[in-house]
Amino acid sequence: MNKIINFSEVNPLTLKENKFIKSEVNKVINKKNFILGNEVSVFEKNFAKLSKVKFAVGCGSGTDALILSLMCLNLKKDDEVIVPGMTYISTGLSVILNNNKLVLADIDPDTGLISIDKVKEKITKKTKVIIPVNLYGQKVDLGKLRKVVGKKINIIEDSAQSHFAFRKGKKNQTNIALSSCYSFYPAKNLGAYGDGGLVTTNSRSIYNKLRALRNLGSIKKYEHFLLGMNSRLDTIQAVILNYKLKSILALNNRRRKVANYYDKELCKIKEIKLTKTDEGSSRHLYIIRTEMRDKLLKYLSSKKISCIMHYPYSLNKLKAFERKIKKVKLENSEKWARECISLPIHPNISINEIKKVVKEIKNFFITSK
Ligand SMILES: Cc1ncc(COP(=O)(O)O)c(C=O)c1O
Repeated sequence: MNKIINFSEVNPLTLKENKFIKSEVNKVINKKNFILGNEVSVFEKNFAKLSKVKFAVGCGSGTDALILSLMCLNLKKDDEVIVPGMTYISTGLSVILNNNKLVLADIDPDTGLISIDKVKEKITKKTKVIIPVNLYGQKVDLGKLRKVVGKKINIIEDSAQSHFAFRKGKKNQTNIALSSCYSFYPAKNLGAYGDGGLVTTNSRSIYNKLRALRNLGSIKKYEHFLLGMNSRLDTIQAVILNYKLKSILALNNRRRKVANYYDKELCKIKEIKLTKTDEGSSRHLYIIRTEMRDKLLKYLSSKKISCIMHYPYSLNKLKAFERKIKKVKLENSEKWARECISLPIHPNISINEIKKVVKEIKNFFITSK
């Protein structure tokens, strides 16, 4: 019987590597330093160094990383935050949970990233922040975005899907955003064995604020000087992440190889649109689009190829946001939501599995003519 081709792999490490991780976790259990143990700051330092950024602050999740970043800015209720229409709910939710006004901008129809032209149309006197989302492992061109939004508007990067991605040929853009927010949800390129998140920044004052905000507004026990959250990165997760950090660049490269194979083969099928992607993308997800999306999904599922959608709803169509945002039409985001399919991609997928995915997609379009 044919084996299922998994969409992703939440634990791509070898048995030997997992054995080592377990022994490291046991050390924490023996030391009992479960909350903000030294391992958290070791991981933060290593992550910051690898990202070529001065500071990193671990927290409970990628969603919290976004909320904490917004909390640093002391925004007022009327202040507007611009977010792309096609992203995970957390990007928009963070704005609503921070009691600010969520403004949605449409995406570029080729990359799926926030359209810088559409951002321009949405800027008002009340715009205080833009959250570009580095969707699928790509990087938004922050230099270009900064030119359009001017110096006064803060940029917070949602990098939940783009650990150690870059834009090929562009110099380091780490000084443009005030902070970058990461998720360590298990299926991410750098995934924990549970939830986790982190914010990077080059600003010492934002760093100091973040450290307090994630810890109920205090650095020193019982001295609470800010209204913060309880959102600390677990010591155990930090140990796991610190180990996995050693192989992240190699694992990203393995994903790039898979994506390049898909690119090379799938560009021959005229019924599908590929996602225009920079070579430096960390290739977290591989998205194709077709008008026959639902039929193709069903067909691939019948062939034991598991695929999902990122995302089946644009943010303006989410029920949870119904009363929180102005009714808007986001043509490109809505079309993307109707047509997108995410194909299996992870560091351990075999060449035979990738070939089978490609073969079945080709078969589908030949037989559906
Ligand atoms: C683009 C994006 N932003 C934010 C998040 C939120 O991260 P978390 O699930 O760790 O809260 C995710 C996670 O799926 C995401 O993909």
